[in-house]
Amino acid sequence: MRVLIVGCGYIGLPLGAELVRLGHDVSGLRRSTSAKKDLLAAGIKPLVGDITRPEDLAGLPASFEWVVNCVASGGGGADDYRRVYLQGTRNLIGWLGSGTPLKFVYTSSTSVYGQNDASPLSEASPAEPASETARVLVETEKLLLEAAGQRRWPAVILRVAGIYGPGRGHGFRQYLKNEARIEGNGRRFLNMIHRDDVVGCIIAALRSGRGGEVYNAVDDEPITEIDFFEWLAGRLGRGPPAIVPGDADTARKRGVTNKKVSNRKLKEELGYRFKYPTFREGYAAEILRLERAGEPGAAGCD
Ligand SMILES: NC(=O)c1ccc[n+]([C@@H]2O[C@H](COP(=O)([O-])OP(=O)(O)OC[C@H]3O[C@@H](n4cnc5c(N)ncnc54)[C@H](OP(=O)(O)O)[C@@H]3O)[C@@H](O)[C@H]2O)c1
Repeated sequence: MRVLIVGCGYIGLPLGAELVRLGHDVSGLRRSTSAKKDLLAAGIKPLVGDITRPEDLAGLPASFEWVVNCVASGGGGADDYRRVYLQGTRNLIGWLGSGTPLKFVYTSSTSVYGQNDASPLSEASPAEPASETARVLVETEKLLLEAAGQRRWPAVILRVAGIYGPGRGHGFRQYLKNEARIEGNGRRFLNMIHRDDVVGCIIAALRSGRGGEVYNAVDDEPITEIDFFEWLAGRLGRGPPAIVPGDADTARKRGVTNKKVSNRKLKEELGYRFKYPTFREGYAAEILRLERAGEPGAAGCD
């Protein structure tokens, strides 16, 4: 297939490398040329452009069979989200126009579920976000599904949980620096997925995802913050992080949630098998990687 990866970063780059390995013809779009060497080394054709600028897109080839939009705003507020996710997706749709991709996959986020009561969630649960930024993601999902429906494109949405893996994982990195804190009672559930499984889920969605459908991309085990850090503490032979009082108002503003997101639909419909079914396998691999690289923070684990 001729594949376009829009946003060739932490996920897009290994995704492109894997698709090349599988024999596909892969192009990767990003704004800067800073990673051009990495893209070329992975066999990905580098394209330069900003999806918030339709004039940039107009100059690019547009005949792709599979398109993956995994651009990220790099944080920022609701305005940045609106520009990069909502307007960026609108521009991509306009640009691809009447050309009909055989599959379009968009990596949304499980942050669209605002539930805060530790409830189990599926794709059928209401997506009523707690934060303004996540509301923009819901708008983006709707825009894509409506536009794709009108154009008869098979668009698939993956709602991706907190990504960790080589060099990533906020709580883990904080913990290694002795800066992690557990707010409140630590009984809030976290939902995670390893980078390699995000790549695997995207490829499964490209191959077998049904147009117009949403799939949660999350591993098998939602875990409470306290259990996560206790596991890490045991693994690294250190104490757990300090517990500090939580501020409900701040947490609400930050869109902090407490939910258990199910991957059942992804596994049943796409037949996806996780390389790292839980954070345990995934972080064990990352700790080993850090130890082998001689990173000081990871010393002391068995
Ligand atoms: N991180 C998480 O825990 C998490 C959770 C749920 C969902 N997601 C989603 O997962 C996807 C992959 O994220 P990631 O971690 O791979 O992000 P990332 O490492 O920040 O990569 C984003 C890529 O997008 C490119 N980009 C940014 N703005 C662009 C623009 N306007 N036009 C063209 N390219 C642009 C960046 O390159 P340049 O800077 O060179 O443009 C970079 O290559 C994203 O859709 C993200 O929203 C992430």
